[in-house]
Amino acid sequence: MTAREGPAQMKQWPALLIDTATMKAVLLIRFRSIISMSLQTRFTLTQADIPKAWYNLLPDFPEPLPPPLHPGTKEPVSLEMMTKIFPENLVAQEMSPDRWIEIPEPVREVYALWRPTPLLRAVRFERALQTPAHIYYKFEGASPAGSHKVNTSVPQAYFNKAAGTKRFATETGAGQWGSSLALACELFGLECNVYMVRVSYQQKPYRRMLMHTWGATVHPSPSDQTEYGRKMLAEDPHCPGSLGIAISEAIEDTATHPDTKYALGSVLNHVCLHQSVIGQEAIRQMALAGEEPDVIFGCAGGGSNFAGIAFPFLEGKIKHGKKYRVVAVEPSACPSLTKGELRYDFGDTAETTPLMMMYTLGHKFMPPSIHAGGLRYHGMSPMVSHAFKLGLIEAEAVHQTKVFEAGTLFARTEGIVPAPESAHAIAAVASEAIRAREAGQKRVLLFNLSGHGLLDLSAYETYLTGKLQDA
Ligand SMILES: Cc1ncc(COP(=O)(O)O)c(C=O)c1O
Repeated sequence: MTAREGPAQMKQWPALLIDTATMKAVLLIRFRSIISMSLQTRFTLTQADIPKAWYNLLPDFPEPLPPPLHPGTKEPVSLEMMTKIFPENLVAQEMSPDRWIEIPEPVREVYALWRPTPLLRAVRFERALQTPAHIYYKFEGASPAGSHKVNTSVPQAYFNKAAGTKRFATETGAGQWGSSLALACELFGLECNVYMVRVSYQQKPYRRMLMHTWGATVHPSPSDQTEYGRKMLAEDPHCPGSLGIAISEAIEDTATHPDTKYALGSVLNHVCLHQSVIGQEAIRQMALAGEEPDVIFGCAGGGSNFAGIAFPFLEGKIKHGKKYRVVAVEPSACPSLTKGELRYDFGDTAETTPLMMMYTLGHKFMPPSIHAGGLRYHGMSPMVSHAFKLGLIEAEAVHQTKVFEAGTLFARTEGIVPAPESAHAIAAVASEAIRAREAGQKRVLLFNLSGHGLLDLSAYETYLTGKLQDA
């Protein structure tokens, strides 16, 4: 076996990856049939098209979202409790009943460094899958930090600066959020302290270096910086960490330092709100392509990039009777939507956050050390959970070998190496495209390519050398 052919697992998935002989034939066809330049595959908007407002799904839900509760009184959390860790202007967004919230001009100016992101049709990927489906993707990996996370780190830094915050404490899984916040802090003149899940800190040194380059301080979590971190290390000195633990450390840091606020890269309503720029642009770009998606996919960890692509389309589903299927794709190793329970639970392991109504595996759940570090979260955004409960969206879970198989095929056909998180969406898209092939039906599929995987190459190497296992 050569690395070019890929590991043994690749051949065990004939439904997705065709055998080596067929692959060679496909490659030949690919060389012969150069895609006609009359076939447009890239759909771009101008800087003037950067959305001027974020879309808030909250008022459009057919049933109201259950509020977060104070863990002691079990009453809805007060403004006072929320403003201990977040500035008032962001708390207002978290609870806003307004459908549209204006994006301040300084935020749009920073967005203009990479937005609007392109929408592409993955024609070569379609051909490799021999599918009649048309596959489109929105490429959020085009941002400076390499993922969608900057769509919210920039406004969070902006609104904190406006409220007088001087220092941030935050957590990060794979390092995508930490690096995105580090960049935003650098741009708006704030100090950034990141608690990075220990297993990712060890597996992804380049993300840590990126955070350092953008001026942040990074601690492996559990760390010796907080009481909770020290307690976890005393119980298990080799604890791999989890997002739940890192959140607890960042909140403790916030509570024990002056002028410090906490920033979360996913889960919360205002984060989903900021990510709505993705779906808003995608709707316009699909119109440029002259097609409407039948199915929309996004990977889901805490739920924010999924919300970003999905919620603006859900507006069409709720208000205009659109028939889109909308699918959240999660890891089989951390299946909060597909195997979790819908109930009030803490957002962190140390039980410091308010209780949120969400699909959860339990806040003490320690996810296995899969390579998609950004998807290792025990819960799911309350808004995404609510959409799932109301039947507005579906969910599926995929194993990581299948994820890397799909990610590798995508890299070999479209060129972009996807982040392992994003490759979850690609695996689900590939399965849907194969079902379209088997049914002989043209379907239009759209997914959010939430980030590139250029700093995740060691995970690809593990896969390509046949060492990757399902957790
Ligand atoms: C590239 C990428 N995609 C997706 C995610 C998952 O987060 P969310 O579900 O909030 O989009 C992460 C988290 O770090 C990520 O880095």
